[in-house]
Amino acid sequence: MLNKKVEEAINAQINAEFWSAYLYLSMSMHFANKGYDGIANWFAIQFKEEQDHATIFMNYVNSRDGKVLLRPIDGVDTEWCCPAEAFKATLAHEQKVTALINEIYAIAVEEKDYATQNMLQWFINEQVEEEETARGYIDALEKIGDNGYGLYMFDKELAARAYTTPSPLASKA
Ligand code: FEO
Repeated sequence: MLNKKVEEAINAQINAEFWSAYLYLSMSMHFANKGYDGIANWFAIQFKEEQDHATIFMNYVNSRDGKVLLRPIDGVDTEWCCPAEAFKATLAHEQKVTALINEIYAIAVEEKDYATQNMLQWFINEQVEEEETARGYIDALEKIGDNGYGLYMFDKELAARAYTTPSPLASKA
């Protein structure tokens, strides 16, 4: 049986993951509209990954005989001045998600819920990667500045990103 405090925190996180998915889908649509197909592809994959994160949490709640509660998803921004602004917003958002994951971990420690602590390890590692990637793109975009060819090449690089199923879901397939 899943501890009630842990269950509540994970349900809030499921909503946060779907909100993240919605944010990145909005970014993907914005950059598709602006002709940055590679950046749009990158955020479309990010959209899928965030839905995967929500699914991993939902599967976990079900596996512990908890109850998933899906609540309304708040609205998201729809405009970014440029790729750099979107990646800065991505980094700021991922830092918030990291803090939320850490908070669930702290509750799981307090409640002596070892299974949840174990499940959260994957997310803790994932957040390190998410923040590092966003930081890397911000650094690249700072170097590129207003250079049109640089932005063209950046967009091309992001077009190469392919979706892969995250390991907690791959093992369930
Ligand atoms: Fe679900 Fe981008 O963290």
